[in-house]
Amino acid sequence: MMRDANAFMKDEYNELVKNGFDWKIRILQGPSAPVCNVDGKEVIMLCSNNYLNLSNHPRIINAAKEILDTHGAGSGSVRAIAGTMDIHIQAEKELAKFKGTESALIYQTGFAVNAGLIPQLVGKGDVIISDELNHGSIIDGVRLTKADRMVFAHNDMGECEKVLHEADKKGYRRILVITDAVFSMDGDIAQMDKIVKLAAEVGAMTYVDDAHGEGVIGPGGRGIGAHYGIEGKIDVEMGTFSKAYGVVGGLAAGSQDLYNFALNKSRTWLLSGSHPPQVAAAQLEAIRVLEEEPQHVKNLWDNTNYFKKELVGMGFDCGHSESPITPVICGESHLAKKLSDRMYEEGIFALPIVFPMVARDKARIRTMMNAGLTREHLDKALAAFEKLGKELKII
Ligand SMILES: Cc1ncc(COP(=O)(O)O)c(C=O)c1O
Repeated sequence: MMRDANAFMKDEYNELVKNGFDWKIRILQGPSAPVCNVDGKEVIMLCSNNYLNLSNHPRIINAAKEILDTHGAGSGSVRAIAGTMDIHIQAEKELAKFKGTESALIYQTGFAVNAGLIPQLVGKGDVIISDELNHGSIIDGVRLTKADRMVFAHNDMGECEKVLHEADKKGYRRILVITDAVFSMDGDIAQMDKIVKLAAEVGAMTYVDDAHGEGVIGPGGRGIGAHYGIEGKIDVEMGTFSKAYGVVGGLAAGSQDLYNFALNKSRTWLLSGSHPPQVAAAQLEAIRVLEEEPQHVKNLWDNTNYFKKELVGMGFDCGHSESPITPVICGESHLAKKLSDRMYEEGIFALPIVFPMVARDKARIRTMMNAGLTREHLDKALAAFEKLGKELKII
């Protein structure tokens, strides 16, 4: 049989374009900043995860520059062989102290934590209990295990309890409950205090993906454990340096036993090159900035509260957001794309999120707040939302 080996790529891409599900990548000319240059146009940035604008903090930039002279441009190896430098260890120690956990292990990315650690925590004879709206990287981590899966309705603690007891009765060896902390498409927050209590009743492990909570929620941006005052009680607090910390890298914070286990078992950690020293130095300095300069987190929340209140007041459906992620739900994907394109023309960069990232009829503009935006910037963005929301009959 003769095959056209590559025809499927074009066909599938064309199908995505036809349905309005393809990504149109815009390019930043210069830094990711509250106001930045995107495709040659100055825009107010409303879709970056750089919540605290730390990627432009002079202390963090300098820390990354200075270590190049003493440690070079690359680490030379995977962490386990010859790629662990003093700066990697220092960043991990200060991270654990910041988060109030016994220890913390830093991975290349948050995705690498979920893909590398989840499959080691559970296997055949075990079960994973997952919130239905968990992030794709959790879903991929779960797919790499031989464990059974059970799903509870989004943030529904009654159902979570029911499923936990069902799993307990079935006699699984291990039970792992896993959830996003701040849900990345809707901006609502998991009831982690309740999950920890429910899990304890049946001896289940708890794992939270705090990618959008690190540097954002909890006192001083210490994340979901601190948000509920349960530091050290969640078995795995996974997070990322790629968002509020303004750098890149994944983290798993918890007990010393977790550190020893994860370090020896996670294939993504063991088999992939470690961060260059300038990344580790920037991570370390970002943790110090968070500890010493509380104004960044405060500004983020002041901006968030103002922006959200105004959008809801205009009549936009912003779902149940409790965080700096505020969705502006439009419905059909072409409408969300149209609103995003028109916003860009008005000098506002806010990206549409469409199926399969969200349900087909829940396409949206997902706005992400930034601590560095001024009230003037926010008012300009709000005026554009109001004008275009009316023009496109969304409000
Ligand atoms: C909820 C969630 N988990 C994990 C990740 C992956 O983190 P990283 O960018 O560090 O790979 C992301 C990033 O998009 C995320 O939003």
